[in-house]
Amino acid sequence: MPKVNLSRLVRDAIKERRHIVDRGYILILDENKVAKKTWTKKSVLKESKFGSLLYSYGIRVPVYFGIIYPDPRFIRSFFDMPIDHHYLVMQRINGRRFHDLDRTEKIDALEQYKNEVSRAARLGVTPENGFDISNCLYEEGKLYLIDFFHWKNSDSIGLEHFLSQLDLFYNNIRDSIKK
Ligand SMILES: Nc1ncnc2c1ncn2[C@@H]1O[C@H](COP(=O)(O)OP(=O)(O)OP(=O)(O)O)[C@@H](O)[C@H]1O
Ligand SMILES: [Mg+2]
Repeated sequence: MPKVNLSRLVRDAIKERRHIVDRGYILILDENKVAKKTWTKKSVLKESKFGSLLYSYGIRVPVYFGIIYPDPRFIRSFFDMPIDHHYLVMQRINGRRFHDLDRTEKIDALEQYKNEVSRAARLGVTPENGFDISNCLYEEGKLYLIDFFHWKNSDSIGLEHFLSQLDLFYNNIRDSIKK
């Protein structure tokens, strides 16, 4: 496979303003790749660290291809579309968000969310600020977890407690879908 120049793809997408509608900070690089614009180095590193780790554990998340750092020429030149922020390049998931799914899909997506998050927790990685089913994309019957800025390594959490919280979350959402 020819080596892809990710910076080139990001630069072209900025130039052509190929954004995901409503999400000005997600650039469409090509059919299979997007780049998430991120303001700080800390957030891009954290998201890519946990995304890649979860991927290596076999949790369903996008493939992470790399980080593109801001172009130092940005300060001097505004004419040749230099790269202005940190960008995290990842697999494009052509999916829908939870609230856009129909009832049956929601029930399926929720089930998958619970499975993926509990598998991640058993491997020692958990969301930091509670559960958020809006940080997912549902593509052709498969649920992908996205957005790992608020995840952490949690060797010290009580797994049983975490899983019971996850159960509560699952039951609450399931009840609200059924109504
Ligand atoms: N890999 C991807 N493929 C396609 N679209 C994506 C991808 N990652 C993110 N998006 C789009 O961008 C939206 C927001 O992504 P994400 O949750 O990572 O960003 P965020 O900064 O946390 O935004 P929010 O506050 O809306 O959660 C997603 O709901 C989706 O529409
Ligand atoms: Mg999010």
